[in-house]
This record gives sequence, C-alpha cells and structure tokens, in this order.
Amino acid sequence: MGKILLTGGCGFIGSHTAVELINEGYEIVIADDLSNSSRDTVDKIETITGKRPLFYEIDVADAAALTALFAEQPIDAVIHFAGFKAVGESVEKPLAYYRNNLDSTLTLLETMSRYGTKCFVFSSSATVYGDAEPPFSEEMKTGGCTNPYGWTKYMIEQILKDAAHADPSLSVVLLRYFNPVGAHESGLIGEKPSGIPNNLMPYISQVAAGIRDHLNVFGNDYPTPDGTCIRDYIHVVDLAKGHVAALGYGLAHTGAEIFNLGTGRGSSVLEMIRAFETANHLTIPFEIAPRRAGDLPFSFAKTEKAEKLLGWKAQKSLTDMCRDAWTFEKSCH
Ligand code: UFG
Repeated sequence: MGKILLTGGCGFIGSHTAVELINEGYEIVIADDLSNSSRDTVDKIETITGKRPLFYEIDVADAAALTALFAEQPIDAVIHFAGFKAVGESVEKPLAYYRNNLDSTLTLLETMSRYGTKCFVFSSSATVYGDAEPPFSEEMKTGGCTNPYGWTKYMIEQILKDAAHADPSLSVVLLRYFNPVGAHESGLIGEKPSGIPNNLMPYISQVAAGIRDHLNVFGNDYPTPDGTCIRDYIHVVDLAKGHVAALGYGLAHTGAEIFNLGTGRGSSVLEMIRAFETANHLTIPFEIAPRRAGDLPFSFAKTEKAEKLLGWKAQKSLTDMCRDAWTFEKSCH
C-alpha cells in the first residue's frame, strides 16, 4: 500500500488527522511550509502515536519541490489541508489568497496526474453555503460567499468537480467543515493562532489564560434566541475521524462526493462562554461589541449524508471541546 500525503499536516486539523490516520495503520507523509505551524508538531505526533511521520518542509505550490516528493514517495491519496484561512486578511489581500489557495490545488492535481495518484480529499468549508437557510445540506446551491477566503473554497470545489468529471478514474471527496474547536486530549497538539485570535474558542482560551482581559461578543441583536450568533462547533478529534472515514470512502469509490462535517447542533456565543466556564470552573469576562462584518446569524449542518455513506458521526460534547481546548492552552504557557 502507498502512503497518504497530508498537505498542511502540521496545522490544527492536519495534525489531528495525522494522529487518527496513524492510529488506523496508515503511513503518512506531511508536506508543510511551516508558514502558520511549527516543526515540533511532527515530534508531538510521534509522541502521541509512537510513529514518526515523514516530513517535507515544502510549499505545495512549488511544482519542483512537490515533484521531488512524489518521485521519492508512492502516494495513494492526498488530503489537502494547506491554505490561507484568515477571513479578514483575505479581504485585505485577495490576490494572495486566490494565488496561494488555487495554485497549491492545481499544482497538486497536475502532479498527482503525472504520478497516477487518484484520490483527493479537500478541506472545504461551510462558508460555501453563503447566506442560505440552515440546516445546510450537501445538495444545496452554494455561492454568495462574503469574503475572498470563502470564494477560494467555492472555486476549488468547482475545479475538483470538473477534474473528477473529466477523469472518471479520479476520486474527489469535498469535506465542508463547520466550526472545528478543542484539541487532542493529551494537550500536545491544538490550535495556536499567531497574533490576536480571529476565532471564538482560541480567543476565549486566551482570556482564560489572562493573555487578553476580556472577550468581545460581536453583536447581541441577531434574530437568535439570545441575540448572539449560532454556530455548529465540532471537536477537532471528531473532525479528524471524519477524515479517516472520508479517505476510506475516497479510496473505494470514484467520482466527486461532498460531505458536511458538523454535529448538526447549533450553539450561541453566550452558550459557548457558559460551557467553557462550567467545564473548566472559571469565569470569562466579556463585553457586548458591535457586529463583525460578514457574520451570519445561523450556521449548522445536516449530518445524515456523512452518517449514511461514511458511517461517521461526531461523538464529543461541548464540555469535551471546552475542556480539551483549555488543557491545550495551559500547556502552551
Ligand atoms: N466571535 C465573537 N468574538 C470573537 C470571535 C468570534 O463574538 O472574538 C463570534 C463571531 O461573531 C461568531 C462566532 O463567535 O458569531 C464564531 O466565530 P468564529 O470566528 O470562531 O467562526 P466563524 O463561524 O466566523 O468562521 C468559521 C471559520 C471560517 C469559515 C466560517 C464559515 O473560522 O474559516 O466558519 O464556515 F469560513
């Protein structure tokens, strides 16, 4: 059996998926340029699993470097996590986002084609549903994204569907993530944003750690039960297990298939604050602040398709997410 290439395998979701794949007996190769991650993640993956993944410090948009990797390693499938992912930054630097996210995908597809690799699993996002009415289901029309980051996900989905259509031997699995949070229960790997966190859970964790003095809750006048936005938060270890199931599916089928990876359950910002306080026996000071541009009131998944075709369902609770996020945050200091 060949190996599984994880681009961005030192990142938040990539590293957790690396652990779950190794636990399932897969041999993996990580390609990461370390632009938003660190090399010691490879050591942490080894500590958790007892197996050291192969590691290439390359930018996967660098065709020569990627070709050298494929020439050295027999690759059965690619899971493509690598990409720029900061929503606000994508508004400031749209060209950098389109160039990086599209280029890396195209370079991977071209290189796979030369080496006969037929399976591609892609990190897409619930953001492609735009302002459609939740629960979001896979067959809904996509588009209406509110920022360039979201459009890169939308465009890459289209590129991959077209590639699968043109080559019936290709297998493409598009995974639409909802809001991944939490960390591995060991506290060794987790989400480590550089600078001020954009996302809710890392921000709450840093307030708990005393790095920031309070959380700004972006808007409490949305048409939701408590006025704050509703999101479908999913534990990153559940999400990683979803990738193991999706990879198995991709290796056994051809064509393009789309799966939501969420819990199907929505929680508000205030509920998340309370869950974090209760799980970890501490207080999170917060203030109500103006709405953040581009935020939608509701986002949550329809999860039946992944349950039926992948045999996968998220298992972990909000308490697990909050406890594990805090364990990781504490281990960083
Ligand atoms: N929030 C705050 N204060 C903060 C940070 C966030 O109140 O300091 C609120 C947001 O307004 C939102 C909720 O917490 O209501 C969740 O915000 P996140 O930034 O954690 O998550 P988003 O749903 O905005 O974004 C996530 C991913 C994106 C993806 C998007 C849509 O981070 O990559 O879902 O799928 F594009």
